[in-house]
Amino acid sequence: MNFQWYPGHMTKAKRMMQEDIKLIDLVIELVDARLPLSSRNPDIDTLGKGKARLILLNKSDLADEKANILWTEYFKGKGFYVLEVNSKSGAGIKKVNAVIQEACREKIERDRKRGILNRPVRAMVVGIPNVGKSTFINSYAKKACTKTGNKPGVTKGKQWIKLSKTLELLDTPGILWPKFEDQNVGLRLALAGSINDDILNITELALELIKILNSDYEDLLQTRYNIETSIDSMETLTEIAKARLCVVKGNKLDLDKAAKILIDDFRNGKLGRITLELPEAENKDDNEGKI
Ligand code: G4P
Repeated sequence: MNFQWYPGHMTKAKRMMQEDIKLIDLVIELVDARLPLSSRNPDIDTLGKGKARLILLNKSDLADEKANILWTEYFKGKGFYVLEVNSKSGAGIKKVNAVIQEACREKIERDRKRGILNRPVRAMVVGIPNVGKSTFINSYAKKACTKTGNKPGVTKGKQWIKLSKTLELLDTPGILWPKFEDQNVGLRLALAGSINDDILNITELALELIKILNSDYEDLLQTRYNIETSIDSMETLTEIAKARLCVVKGNKLDLDKAAKILIDDFRNGKLGRITLELPEAENKDDNEGKI
């Protein structure tokens, strides 16, 4: 399978990011907790140089709880502030404010020394498409949502959501372009639904998911579909098709339909909490111990 992100999109996204990042103190970067490295673009580290950094492991409700802890430690080890959140339900969102104050303590201190008091921290949400940026902004800004409008000279054309006396959020999130150099990264993004399904072969995708589940989450397929699984992914998909009565004319099994059911069940968390990559595995792939 081949995954694409068009160079035109990337250039535009990068240009906008470079402009917006000049206006802010803090980058709030959302990653998908099920695939924290595959769903981030490390170019943000260069773009966000000198800014305070907070990584949110979003969709943590869909990811393996133990893996969430490992990823939190991993990113903390890299010097980021980190929180697990579920932007859909709002779980974990309450902790964000305190962590932002902590992440920006140096900046607030610097301001104070220069005699600048009460200048709010300016933040911006960034992440690849579909990672949950809008959902997070809505959930976070739910109560304190006042648009402050344009501020001549400083924020021309930009809308800020004033969240409190001490925090303003740029209302449009920054879109990071996914990095597809490694086909496994593309595969994980496709599984998570970050790539348009129209260009994907869903059956192939389902077979890859079955392979991953067979090695890391053995029981989940048996439990969900009440089937015997096999090391042959096609056989397992056939069993799912039988269990879910996926048939087409002539009583033939409809594997595409079964594949779609499986992928939807994974994306909605109905198979269980699943993480597609772990920090150690990534280091092994890379062989140089760096991300
Ligand atoms: P974006 O701005 O980064 O492109 O992403 P957006 O907020 O549109 O979210 C993409 C999808 O991810 C939405 O689902 C949203 O509900 C879901 N989502 C966001 N955060 C979380 C989370 O923490 N947990 C879970 N489980 N889902 C999350 P959708 O299918 O497009 O819409 P809907 O079914 O919610 O209506």
